[in-house]
Parts: sequence; C-alpha cells; structure tokens
Amino acid sequence: MEKLLRPKEDHRWDLEGVEFAIDERIGDPELFIGRAGELEFLYKWAANIRRKISRSIAFLGRRKIGKSLVLERLYNILYSEHKGVIPFYYEFTEGDRSGREFLTDFTVSFYMQVVGYYTRDITWNRRAVQPDRQMPDIGALLEEIAPLSLPNKGEITHHLESNLRVSELEKPPYEYVIRAVGVPRGFATSVSVEDQVVQMLDEFQYLNMHIDAGVEEKPCKAYMSPAESRVAPLLITGSLMGVVSRELMRWLPQRFTEVSVPKMDASESAEMTLNYAGFFGHSISRETAEYIVHITNNVPGRIADLLTPNIGKPEISTSGDVDGALAWEVGKGRIRSDWEEYLSHAMNGVNSVNLRKITYFLCRHEGEWYYPSQLKEAMSLDLDEEKLRGELKLLH
Ligand SMILES: Nc1ncnc2c1ncn2[C@@H]1O[C@H](COP(=O)(O)OP(=O)(O)OP(=O)(O)O)[C@@H](O)[C@H]1O
Ligand SMILES: [Mg+2]
Repeated sequence: MEKLLRPKEDHRWDLEGVEFAIDERIGDPELFIGRAGELEFLYKWAANIRRKISRSIAFLGRRKIGKSLVLERLYNILYSEHKGVIPFYYEFTEGDRSGREFLTDFTVSFYMQVVGYYTRDITWNRRAVQPDRQMPDIGALLEEIAPLSLPNKGEITHHLESNLRVSELEKPPYEYVIRAVGVPRGFATSVSVEDQVVQMLDEFQYLNMHIDAGVEEKPCKAYMSPAESRVAPLLITGSLMGVVSRELMRWLPQRFTEVSVPKMDASESAEMTLNYAGFFGHSISRETAEYIVHITNNVPGRIADLLTPNIGKPEISTSGDVDGALAWEVGKGRIRSDWEEYLSHAMNGVNSVNLRKITYFLCRHEGEWYYPSQLKEAMSLDLDEEKLRGELKLLH
C-alpha cells in the first residue's frame, strides 16, 4: 500500500484512498488544512512502531489548537494503509466512572477497533469511538465476534474472556484500572500477533479526574509500565496542558517525550480561513483572511468559531464585519462559552479568595501592567509580597 499522507497544493491533502474509519470531528474532511509538520512527524513516529523504536508521546497544546483532529486524521491514514500498526483511539471524558466500568469500556472499545481493522468493516470503529456510544458489554461482544472469521481470533477471544472473568470478580478498584490500561499491550505482545498498536488517548487529564480508582487517587500511575511499551506506545493529548505536564512529570517520569503543538503556521492558517469562508459562503479577500488569523492568534478552532454563521451574527466580507462577528462570538457565542468553561475549571482548581479577586481585578484592567507591589497597593491586599508572587505564578 502506498503512502496515504500526501500534501497537495495550498496546504490541502490528497484524500484519494483514505477511508474514514472514524468520523473526524471537523465534519467534512476537505475542511482539514495544513498541520503538515505535525502530521509528518507523527506519521514517521507511527511507522517506527513497526521497528519498535518509538517511545510514547505526550502531544500537548492549548484548547482548540487542533490536537484531536490531528489524531483522528492519523488514525484514518493508519487504518487505510493497513500496514500492521493498528490504530486505537480512546477519549477520556468528563463524567465519573468506576474502575470496573472503565475496564469494560476500555477493553470493549479496544477490541472493537481491532476487529474493525482486521475485517475492514468500519462500522466497528465508528461504534467504538462515537461519543454517546452504547457499547456492548464484554459478553455481548464475544457473541458478536463468534461467527466472524478474522486473524488472531483465538487471541482476541481468549483476552476478552479473561477480562470478562476479572470484571466479574470483587477487586480493589485500582486493580481494574491496571488491568484495563494493559489490554492493548497484552494483545500486541501475544506470541501469535505480529501487528503493533498505536494507542491514541485523548484528554488524558480526565483519567485522574474522573476514573474512580478507590484509595489510589492518581490512576494514571497504572501507565508506569504500559507507557514504556514499544509494541503499543501511547500518543496522549491534554488540553489542560499544565495539569498533564505536571502529572506526567510527577507520576510517570521519563515515560513520555513531550511534543508541544504549536500555533498553526501563518500561511496554513490563512489558507484554512479562506477555505472555511468559502464553505460558509463569506466572500473575503486574502487580506481579510490575514486579519482574521491575526485576531484569532492563529488558533484554528477560533477561526472556525468566528466564521461559523449564526442568527444575528454578521456575514463577513470586510474587516469591520470581522470585528462585528468577533464581538458577537465573545458576547454570546462559542468563544464565550469556551472561556467560561475554562475559567470555571481554573477557578475551581484555584481555591483561594485572593486569587479569584486578583483574576477579576486583572480582567477588569486588561492591558494595564502592575508590579506585584503596585497590585498589592491597588487592591489593598493583605499578603506579603513573596506569597503574592507565588500566587501570581500559579495564576500564570
Ligand atoms: N488543521 C485544521 N484545519 C481546519 N480546521 C481546523 C484545523 N485544526 C483545528 N481546526 C478547527 O478547530 C476545531 C478544534 O480542533 P480540535 O478539536 O482538534 O482541537 P483540540 O486541540 O483537540 O481542542 P480541545 O482542547 O478543545 O480538545 C476543529 O473542530 C476545527 O473546526
Ligand atoms: Mg481535543
């Protein structure tokens, strides 16, 4: 099978031969522009899994920078090329879950994707990753697999049966988590299995935040050994960058190579803006596109938000319209709701009245500069300067 990661002119991609085994959250795959550097890098990394020389990666970047899209596109390319690296995508989500529920969900999702890879029937992959999925339990999956003919069926069935037995035992919750996170490596290291796996784990921070591992407060520790695997390395993302980076350093030292996802390249962003504008029926010049890139700070998710039409939001052709659309977005659109969510996360994490007051003060005086001593005076804070510096560092 030839290489399917093929750039075209204007930062577009040649999609000939790419099967969309999982739906990309962008909607129409033609909307995906650029990210050539990041995709090339990850594509080579994935190819090197065949040679067992790729280490786990933490792909970290701020909200809406395009992490999940890059993972989804890489997934579809690896699936379509079918060269012996099985893509597995799992998104940790908000919403609490017991260790035992996690074991079932993770195991079933993994093996459904393996079955989809072997049978070339993408309905398995789609079912396994859709966000509001109704997953079968392990027993039901075994029944679904029984009539199929597929490579490594004996191994798949054996592993599923053994995890079904574990899920039925009464164990401390953390043990289910340890069992779950070892599932992909367990399969890839089976003697009769020649394929490798790439584990794309999106929103890794939610593992610690939402999986109940009983007395173990940091279930991510269960990855200490699986993250070292060369036959099923991890590619994790996190949008709460600071949180993930700190937790990896503390609980999973030396296990991940950190790769930070940069802002999009200016020329890729301008092309992407023109492409979105065309899709949404705005007629804009390259100059206006560049203005949009400038005010959104090259963050692709913000460009898409700005150009997505809504009732009462101006149609865009001039830079004045862009300002109007931005005002609409900040006032009542996606940009507003995303920031509200982000701030409420941050404020929940920052449990100090002073810090909340400082945040509010700095927002109200945006654009003005204060030295800590000036801030202390302006806000009449009863804090020594050392402590104030510490709090500001935390906020930063
Ligand atoms: N390369 C791209 N081409 C076109 N649109 C893009 C691109 N990258 C991102 N976008 C737009 O930005 C949106 C956000 O992208 P994505 O969900 O991948 O970001 P993320 O970094 O995973 O965000 P989060 O931190 O919220 O999980 C996409 O739905 C899409 O509209
Ligand atoms: Mg994402």
